[in-house]
Amino acid sequence: MSETQFTPRVFSGIQPSGGLTLGNYLGAIKRFVDMQGAEFETIYCMVDLHAITAKFIDPATLVRNTRELCAGFIAAGIDPQQSILFNQSQVPEHAQLAWIFNCVARMGWMQRMTQFKDKAGKNAQNESLGLFAYPALMAADILIYHATHVPVGEDQRQHLELTRDIAAKFNHDYGVEFFPITEPVIEGAATRVMSLRDGTKKMSKSDASDMSRINMTDDADAIATKIRKARTDPEPLPSELDGLDDRPEARNLVNIFAALADSSPEAVISEHGGQQFSAFKPVLADLAVAKLSPMSGEMSRLMADPAEIDRILAHGAEQARELTAPILKRTYEIVGMVGA
Ligand code: AMP
Ligand code: TRP
Repeated sequence: MSETQFTPRVFSGIQPSGGLTLGNYLGAIKRFVDMQGAEFETIYCMVDLHAITAKFIDPATLVRNTRELCAGFIAAGIDPQQSILFNQSQVPEHAQLAWIFNCVARMGWMQRMTQFKDKAGKNAQNESLGLFAYPALMAADILIYHATHVPVGEDQRQHLELTRDIAAKFNHDYGVEFFPITEPVIEGAATRVMSLRDGTKKMSKSDASDMSRINMTDDADAIATKIRKARTDPEPLPSELDGLDDRPEARNLVNIFAALADSSPEAVISEHGGQQFSAFKPVLADLAVAKLSPMSGEMSRLMADPAEIDRILAHGAEQARELTAPILKRTYEIVGMVGA
């Protein structure tokens, strides 16, 4: 294995923590689909080991969430023939490399992670050690494949910077150029989809109000109602993009439109600028229903055959291990583990 030439390889993961939103779809899954093809090898993972870091999850629920997430990936267009699709725990090298990275990452680096601070709040003493170590496992997820590109939403930027720091420190400490310095791919109109009720808050599966988000399993009526009732200001859409400054709800709907239409906010404004929301929202609702409701139908069809989903995940895990086994072996050799 060459240690300086890295094949263009995409890795990304999503936690099977239950429910997928339009934010997950536009910020992550849709972009995973767009990266499939000749340019990259693509590897997509349901990170079940991460899903148990935050709170206790009932085991049967975790199983269901993992299968549902897999169904969501496939319904959105991830093709298991083209991409490696699997759940993290079936590929033990992720956790094995994470241990090495626990010994590379510094306490000070980990203590700066804003996602831990946000999730833990005032309760840090009662959080799991796993929640604190989460970003080192995430770095291992990526680097156990020597992945060069990682598509994610904006909220993951800091974790990807940590991944680069870990790779650089490992390479430096051991005097090798073994791990690539991964590129974050945080692009497009919808890297941060906001709540439909409050344009300053991220759309999230954990928000108390179901009206704040569109779920990938929502039917056409629910999607249309949520868009019709989305909070907006009383002004019409501006005719220039900078007219969206200080109008977070309007900006969010324009961004969602652009991402769903594979277009840009500029193009949406040049077509719909000047319109009232009473005219814009129904067009957006039609677009959202056209794009999303076939996926929710396909998800339920796939969920009806869990054995088939499990077969896909087992096959993906087998393919993944062909890539991870030699990289872990070489890492152990570099570190000085006898018998590697
Ligand atoms: P999570 O559901 O937090 O595990 O996130 C899975 C993926 O979806 C990550 O790449 C996130 O950055 C992305 N994501 C989650 N919520 C949003 C959102 N509201 N807007 C854009 N991307 C998001
Ligand atoms: N931390 C990511 C999230 O919450 C999920 C994740 C785990 C991930 N491992 C990853 C994303 C590796 C990209 C690459 O969304």
